[in-house]
Amino acid sequence: MNMSNLQFAFRWLHVIAGITWIGHLYFFNFVNVPLQGALDDAAKKAVNPQLQPRALWWFRWGAMVTFLSGLVLYAMIYMWDPVLGFGMTGLRSPSHWILMGMLFGAIMWFNVWFIIWPTNRKILLGQVPPDQLAAARAKAKLFSRTNTYLSGPMLFGMLGASHFGTHGLKGVLAVMIIGFGGMWVAIFHSDRVGKTV
Ligand code: HEM
Repeated sequence: MNMSNLQFAFRWLHVIAGITWIGHLYFFNFVNVPLQGALDDAAKKAVNPQLQPRALWWFRWGAMVTFLSGLVLYAMIYMWDPVLGFGMTGLRSPSHWILMGMLFGAIMWFNVWFIIWPTNRKILLGQVPPDQLAAARAKAKLFSRTNTYLSGPMLFGMLGASHFGTHGLKGVLAVMIIGFGGMWVAIFHSDRVGKTV
């Protein structure tokens, strides 16, 4: 297998794992948040111990494989390339997109492994005292929402490196507005759509 085929294999793994991760992130934010609001306590007790551990498994391991394969891709494409060197070439270089995408992706990975998953794990294991349960749920939701917002510009960074012209302040601002705005629209509608067949 030559180097470009190996790189392609990592791209494939990276995108499949990314779909698995972000697909579950969107399931949690667009489907599960409204669903939990519609279930009574008895239904939650029946559904959540079965649903959450499974969904959280694919979610966190999707995040891990995406992150690690992304670092491999970065090493293969940028780090040792004499022209692209670390993606730090001239300010307006398209390769700067990947630095933005990777920064957001790394923050999201950190939030999954060090905040969202440990907090949900404690809730599911019944380790959170009843008076702190609401605060624990709110914390997990805040970071999950943050990741949802970050995913908009993050994915632009992933794609922009190879498929979008130059990189500059105006472009970054436009991407932030479109990326965050798109996610806001989806979150806003998530409580209103799909309630009936
Ligand atoms: C978690 C941290 C992440 C890192 C460090 C990372 C790193 C990278 C790198 C280095 C590339 C190659 C860029 C290039 O072709 O020049 C890439 C491409 C890509 N990444 Fe990520 N990534 C991360 C997260 C994600 C996530 C969450 C997704 C969601 C699906 C994703 C989807 C993609 C896509 C679609 C491409 C473009 C493939 C192509 O155009 O050939 N990445 N990523």
